Amino acid sequence: MTSGTGAVQGGALQVKGEVVSLKPVGDYLHLTMTAPGVAERMRPGNFVALSVGGEQSAMLLRRAFSIYRAQASTRGGTVEIVFAEHGKGTRWMTRLAPKDTIDVVGPLGRPFALPKQPVACTLVGGGYGMAPMFSLAERLRARGCSVHMLIGAASESRLFGALEASRAASSVRITTEDGSMGHRGRVTDVLPDLIDKTGSDVVYACGPMPMLQAVSAVADEHGAHSQCAVEETMACGVGVCMTCVLPVRGDDGVIRMVRSCVEGPVFRGDRVLWDDVGTIPDGTLGAANRGARNERSDARDHGRSAP
Ligand SMILES: Cc1cc2nc3c(=O)[nH]c(=O)nc-3n(C[C@H](O)[C@H](O)[C@H](O)COP(=O)(O)OP(=O)(O)OC[C@H]3O[C@@H](n4cnc5c(N)ncnc54)[C@H](O)[C@@H]3O)c2cc1C
Ligand code: FES
Repeated sequence: MTSGTGAVQGGALQVKGEVVSLKPVGDYLHLTMTAPGVAERMRPGNFVALSVGGEQSAMLLRRAFSIYRAQASTRGGTVEIVFAEHGKGTRWMTRLAPKDTIDVVGPLGRPFALPKQPVACTLVGGGYGMAPMFSLAERLRARGCSVHMLIGAASESRLFGALEASRAASSVRITTEDGSMGHRGRVTDVLPDLIDKTGSDVVYACGPMPMLQAVSAVADEHGAHSQCAVEETMACGVGVCMTCVLPVRGDDGVIRMVRSCVEGPVFRGDRVLWDDVGTIPDGTLGAANRGARNERSDARDHGRSAP
């Protein structure tokens, strides 16, 4: 990826933004930055890829973050993210100060699919996975959908958006694993009841992979569609390196290794082969060709021509 400013992939831009503010929210940090053009193009579920470490950094790979809020403005729109300190890149981000320059690529990825009819929707967020749910709630409400939120985390300090949720949704349920706030347990403990009581047709989810797998299974069992925003490790973020692939069954029933940065990060939950993420399951399209390629290279290694 180049360091200049310009178009990247689809409608995405690469821009030099400026840090507006960096504030703690529970165990997370809330970063607001200018990113001219990105805010205007953003749709709920999109993410940004930030360059970390400064211009001389050896950290070449951008880091991906869901867009929490995006506000268009005549002076250059702002984009907000919520992040946890994880490793070297996010540690560098915790030291950002107002007016620091930040190189932003976005908006990237496929957004959440919106229902055509005004149906009931349950939005489930695990930890900072709640971040993309607020702009989604706004879009859903604008379509006449009723919005119910279910927020989960290990403990109260790792919940995000609990207060804001009461303004954004008709009903809010909270779960923490240690019982420090709301129901003690996991989101999937209360999700079945929530889907049934609200008559939700769609469940939107963002959070850790095991949570997404469990949410998608509950949605299936209760007759709801699920839309899950996955967080697969990414390198390029724009569809060229194949680092972010996961097995997904297509409309035609065929399993394909699909790029979560371009075809995702939002997938239909019932289409992801959750148990096989991180592997290439048997029957995946192209996997047999991979075998054939191996045979060819074996043949080359033994000085014979490939059949
Ligand atoms: C679509 C998407 C949305 C995301 N949204 C958020 C968000 O809103 N808030 C937030 O805190 N984090 C989010 N993440 C995870 C975030 O990208 C990683 O926490 C971050 O890249 C870690 O970088 P690091 O240098 O601190 O950690 P390191 O562990 O040093 O990172 C090393 C490499 O691994 C990758 N990596 C490490 N952890 C993850 C992870 N959990 N997911 C994906 N790649 C990872 C990094 O991008 C980097 O290339 C998102 C990831 C994806 C793919
Ligand atoms: S991260 Fe490179 S193809 Fe998705």
